[in-house]
Amino acid sequence: MRAISIGLLGLGTVGSGVVKIVESHQDKLMHQVGCPVIIRKVSVKDLQKERQVKIDSHLLTDNPNEVLEDPEIDVVIEVMGGIEETKSYLLKALRNRKHVVTANKDLMAVHGPELLKEAAANECDLFYEASVAGGIPILRSLVDGLASDRITKMMGIVNGTTNFILTKMSKNGSEYESALKQAQDLGFAEADPTADVSGMDSARKMAILSTLGFSMTIDLDDVQIRGITEISKDDLSYSQKLGYTMKLIGLAARDGEKVEVSVQPALLPESHPLASVNDEYNAVYVYGEAVGETMFYGPGAGSLPTATAVVSDLVGVLKNMRLGVNGRSAVVPQYPKALKGPEDIFAKFFVRLHVKDEVGVLASITSMFSEYGVSFDKILQLPLQPREASEIVLVTHRASMDNFDQIVERLNDYEMVKEIKSIYRVEGEEVI
Ligand code: HSE
Repeated sequence: MRAISIGLLGLGTVGSGVVKIVESHQDKLMHQVGCPVIIRKVSVKDLQKERQVKIDSHLLTDNPNEVLEDPEIDVVIEVMGGIEETKSYLLKALRNRKHVVTANKDLMAVHGPELLKEAAANECDLFYEASVAGGIPILRSLVDGLASDRITKMMGIVNGTTNFILTKMSKNGSEYESALKQAQDLGFAEADPTADVSGMDSARKMAILSTLGFSMTIDLDDVQIRGITEISKDDLSYSQKLGYTMKLIGLAARDGEKVEVSVQPALLPESHPLASVNDEYNAVYVYGEAVGETMFYGPGAGSLPTATAVVSDLVGVLKNMRLGVNGRSAVVPQYPKALKGPEDIFAKFFVRLHVKDEVGVLASITSMFSEYGVSFDKILQLPLQPREASEIVLVTHRASMDNFDQIVERLNDYEMVKEIKSIYRVEGEEVI
């Protein structure tokens, strides 16, 4: 079989890793695909920039068309990032009958369905394993490994930056800003870390995961998003006192036909498998009706881990080429989109309040919650300085989001409640 030529769009952190793996694992690639794999062209923005990998300067171009239009190139690997312009490049590659491997979650979360359709129309593969949780082969596990099961729940720590920040804040007492700076220095935060800390990066990954896991097109707009910027050290210390660990959790849950997909800081019992996923590590907990609990853990970012996923996708494309089945493995969603409303979502809630230190305050709050059929699992009450206020921390039993929203409205109007300091969902305690 003739050598396979690949073209790269981008040669940053992930692109450099791809070059290193293709070169250093050539023997393994040869063995798996039966021919040499050659890097033929690499398109970059700045030809003068110093690179993280040694590469023949003749391979570099600042004209992406030299990759997209080269008839010798079989597979385009997109590791440049960006959305609209990158989408136009990938459409062009597919129309020129080139298979595409991309690590781009921003692009796939927004334009995935359109690109996949174009790929299938051109009998091309479009693989994107590296777009979610870097080096963890989670998309393949959902689509192939768990193909026979019905997945009902996924909980993901799918952003390394926020997991790093929360770990440093809760375990080392670090300040938010210094933990973020450390994550940026270590290179896993996005160029603009707003996408990390706002929860948007996780939301993009959850849209991709839930589309595949539930076989239903979930758009980014369907994901409820809350980031980590409002978490205080007090929230973290009260959570710990109550036996919980705070994590930014991407949650995708299915009951019957309907699904909920959200990203939010949530409290997990310390015994939950996701509670011990620390620093920049990622993990995706998947519950399948038949298999039960599974968890996939590993590096969610970084040059070589992410490049591993990219090159494994490349191997998938090349194996399909040998079999002549490219463009046939795209998953067509089986179910129409059906999203849960607040009345369908049930959770336990952590509520931290500052209240007036007066007789009957706790009794009155308890009685108001009970009007909605909501009782408490845990309660802490502590005096504050000055003494006319006290702090109440409650964890409810399961309540519908609908009822809980009404309770919050009532608390906002209560004269004895000085301030609702924070509210978080408590996840991972229910028996599935
Ligand atoms: N900024 C992302 C993270 C990189 O922190 O996880 C990987 O998508």
